[in-house]
Amino acid sequence: MCGIVGYIGERDAKKVLLDGLLRLEYRGYDSAGIALRTENGIEIKKTKGRISDLERIVGDCCTNSMCGIGHTRWATHGEPSQRNSHPHMSADGRVTLVHNGIIENYIQLKLMLESEGVVFKSETDTEVAVNLIAKYYKSDPLEAIYKAMNDIRGSFALAIMFDGSPDELYAVKKDNPLIIGIGNGNHENFIASDIPAILKWTRDYIVLGELEVAKVTRDGIYITDKHGAPVEPRREHVMWNYDAAEKGGYPHFMLKEIFEQPTVLRDTIGPRIKDDGIATFEDEGLTDEILRNTKRTYIAACGSALHSGIIGRTFIERLAGIPAEYEVASEFRYRDPILYPDDLVVIISQSGETADSLAALRLAKAKGLRTVAIVNVVGSSIARAADVALYMNVGPEIAVATTKAFSAQVAMLLILAIQTAKAKGNLTNEKLQELSRELSHLPQLIGELMPLYESTKQLAGHLAQRDHIFFIGRGLDYAACYEGSLKLKEISYIHSEAYAAGELKHGTISLIEPDTPVIAIATQKEIFEKTVSNIKEVKARGAFVVLITGKGMYDANGDSYADYVIEVPECNELLLPSLVVVACQIISYNIAAVMGCDIDKPRNLAKSVTVE
Ligand code: G6P
Repeated sequence: MCGIVGYIGERDAKKVLLDGLLRLEYRGYDSAGIALRTENGIEIKKTKGRISDLERIVGDCCTNSMCGIGHTRWATHGEPSQRNSHPHMSADGRVTLVHNGIIENYIQLKLMLESEGVVFKSETDTEVAVNLIAKYYKSDPLEAIYKAMNDIRGSFALAIMFDGSPDELYAVKKDNPLIIGIGNGNHENFIASDIPAILKWTRDYIVLGELEVAKVTRDGIYITDKHGAPVEPRREHVMWNYDAAEKGGYPHFMLKEIFEQPTVLRDTIGPRIKDDGIATFEDEGLTDEILRNTKRTYIAACGSALHSGIIGRTFIERLAGIPAEYEVASEFRYRDPILYPDDLVVIISQSGETADSLAALRLAKAKGLRTVAIVNVVGSSIARAADVALYMNVGPEIAVATTKAFSAQVAMLLILAIQTAKAKGNLTNEKLQELSRELSHLPQLIGELMPLYESTKQLAGHLAQRDHIFFIGRGLDYAACYEGSLKLKEISYIHSEAYAAGELKHGTISLIEPDTPVIAIATQKEIFEKTVSNIKEVKARGAFVVLITGKGMYDANGDSYADYVIEVPECNELLLPSLVVVACQIISYNIAAVMGCDIDKPRNLAKSVTVE
């Protein structure tokens, strides 16, 4: 939610900031702005809309500036408008900042500042933060920041400029991510919400810790804790290259990321299959001993990451023979769930920054439980807070709708189930080797689905503009329905629901009318006939049925119950949900493309949700 950038160095700051913001636009795109330090003081350019709108407004201005901050907004307090856009400047003009987060006690602080004569121009909580810092700013920026931090309740990542310190930028964070890009001797340094914003210039960065403050100059980065004591910076190096954050000829990042899956999933799976042929996370800190002592796995996550957990729950129960639960992280954190000392809490998050998932993790830790994080972004808050961080290795994911990270999560949950089964002695080594071998073929099987991009275009034309589309399935197929349905609705805005096939008749079937599209997923042999009965129920009411099934499974036998059939390759049943979801990703993409939707940046969404 909201992306922030900062630059100080010898380049054209305007270009660096605009480029960085473009890479962070997935974090929000309601408005955008930059503040540049010029000979005449600080120049602010901001507008409602996207980075491309900002670029037009900025035009040729301020080409000599080599220092500034920028912001792309996902609105929380105050509608998207020029007035509410960041950067915000204090009423006295001495402090300018950009903010990601929510100041929860902003009303109280606002009243206090108003009583002292501050006149506010916007409806944002951010303008409160900037004026609070200005109130405490005598001559020492650090002192002002520490004091303001004491007063603020809520979450924040801030990049700040002070009028009396023209050669310095300041950064501070609490519960929202912030990194400092290291210029590596080039007389420059960077501030950013996420790695893609700095990749063009450096792959080295420092992850700012909770309530740490960074003073950033051209030639130095000085970090202190909230008491002013120096902090040894945690340096990270990312292997991703700049091309990974480019569209590479594809019309959308989402399509690029769908097509990348057969390649990147090799890095998710391959290194985890060891010499004995069994997949494991043993040498990443998740030991067999931990899993041997685990009596239950508890998964908490949000959005698609939760959907991977729903699939993963079945893997663990089926292979390892222990109970597995899953829960939406935003519910888990406030429900006071009953947890046992030998539970293993698994948090799944692509970004590693989702506020509710992070809070669920902290709750589990506070209860003394062992925690494992399945994450993509190296050094992210969730990765750092968990006892064990397991990385997806799929490179940066830019499209708001996740694709490759989801597939990696499911693959990693299968590895977790295999390793737990081994630790528990629940399956023979031969069986574990067979499963691991089959998993290693998943990238290739996903590759075999790519022709669906061309072949489902006509189907997409037929499904586009519909008011409702239903997804039905049983067991693992039902779990896959959740993600198929979310993918469709988030990028095409078509209302869609995922239903347990057997449950539809208890109310929702009343919504099925002639020609209502129903995407029926039936890949699991044991329950295939049961699902077919449910498909016939909707067919009898005139539904247009798209059946996604295993190769050779659809045999109408004179009783055609599907209007369109998509077959996924033959493989172990546990891999089928991954294949089904990739098919759904492609169909959803094609539907949204026909409808001319803004596929990479669907309305109202942000990729990294750092507010609760
Ligand atoms: C947002 C994104 C989803 C994502 C969810 C959880 O809603 O749009 O694609 O699944 O957050 O994100 P995380 O980074 O924790 O996986």
